[in-house]
Amino acid sequence: MANITFSSPMHKDKTVYATAGSHTKTILQLAKENHIPIDFNCENGECGTCVVKVTKIDRKDPMSGPLNAREVVVLKGLGLITQAEIDQMYVDDIAPTHSRLACQMVVRDEDILVEYPSV
Ligand code: FES
Repeated sequence: MANITFSSPMHKDKTVYATAGSHTKTILQLAKENHIPIDFNCENGECGTCVVKVTKIDRKDPMSGPLNAREVVVLKGLGLITQAEIDQMYVDDIAPTHSRLACQMVVRDEDILVEYPSV
């Protein structure tokens, strides 16, 4: 079970308990189910509207696991990740940035802090 804490300067923090069966859900799906107002548009990893900042609760590191291909394209286009960081990500298998697309990032068995909007 993972605790997902959503935090925004405009709203009260809310922690959601993601059960094992929900580990196929994205951050955005969990947010919508719990009435957390993360901005979104395409829901398909193309527009960049849903960028959030994701941090592991215990170590303040970026999330483990690489970005998916759509996140790479959008985050690079937004200037939130460099090609060198992308290349290193495929070596380390660790996300090189705290910036993630809420509609693409699938919840894992880790307690995380999701900050929105990301800037
Ligand atoms: S809603 Fe468009 S990239 Fe996530």
